[in-house]
Amino acid sequence: RIPIWLDCDPGHDDAVAILLSCFLPQFELLGISASYGNASPEKTAYNALSLLTAMGKCNQIPVYAGAQRPWVRKAIYAPDIHGQSGLDGTNLLPVPRAQLRSDKSYLEAMTEAIETHSGDISLISTGSLTSVATLLREKPHLKSKIRYISIMGGGIHVGNRNENESAEFNIWIDPQAANSILQDPEVNNKCILIPLDLTHKAIATKDVESRVLSDGSTNFRRLFYDLFVFFGHSYENAQGFESGAPVHDPLTLMPLLELYKLQSSEAIKFEYKRLELNAVESENSPDLGQTKVFKEHSKNSNKGTIVGFDLNIQYFWDQVYLALNLASQE
Ligand code: BDR
Ligand code: CA
Repeated sequence: RIPIWLDCDPGHDDAVAILLSCFLPQFELLGISASYGNASPEKTAYNALSLLTAMGKCNQIPVYAGAQRPWVRKAIYAPDIHGQSGLDGTNLLPVPRAQLRSDKSYLEAMTEAIETHSGDISLISTGSLTSVATLLREKPHLKSKIRYISIMGGGIHVGNRNENESAEFNIWIDPQAANSILQDPEVNNKCILIPLDLTHKAIATKDVESRVLSDGSTNFRRLFYDLFVFFGHSYENAQGFESGAPVHDPLTLMPLLELYKLQSSEAIKFEYKRLELNAVESENSPDLGQTKVFKEHSKNSNKGTIVGFDLNIQYFWDQVYLALNLASQE
């Protein structure tokens, strides 16, 4: 199994990343850090604990408080997309039956996970890059022990901020942290970037919504159904998406199945380029937070970040239905 650590900001699509991380048999989820992002860090922590409680995993997966704010910018949340709680749209979220771990900091917990699974572990980042960048800034010796850092972030030809249409939220909220990863020659070639160019192909359509309930309308399935419906309405109102919301975050897990050779590339059909990128940091720039490409390497090169452009989206949805089935049997 692929040992992973998930840094997230749940978040409707982060919730799906947590579901897949917990239930797909190819992954071993070692821990979660819940960081500021879609909502305040207190709210994303509550949401992570509540989701794990709904999944029956709250005593197995430790949750730590991740990054509390960006490196330089003021924190900006996303109530227009995820509601005030960060996970609006359902009354099926249980009161958490576990608390944030306080035995150590997220930096210590991630360090321990990386050292225990040295060379094998991958980090998954589905919020800002603040937590991962802080870890690698404070403990640079960990860089060589991480296999991949799979990141939902950026957009090469597309953005999603109304203030600045060329930027993507996760990069835009902390471009300095993003740059410290994307421009670090010791780690940028281990990064897999899943940009909006790819995630906008994974739309939770009405068909997906009905499939979520088709194997039985349990409270657990209805929770995810509610989340998809709310997310779809947000995307319609805020971004003009007519057929549903793009479910960005869980796509970070898919390429790992191919890169660790646990699934054939035929099934995944992951298409990528190796690009060197940076994020625009200057506060007054109209391109603030945009990911700019300044060099393309050949696909066989080990230079540059692996930037995903395509994937077998049906394969992805099948993994979501499978995880829902497995979770419903618990
Ligand atoms: C990203 O921003 C957040 O709102 C989502 O959870 C996702 O991680 C998409 O731009
Ligand atoms: Ca997210």
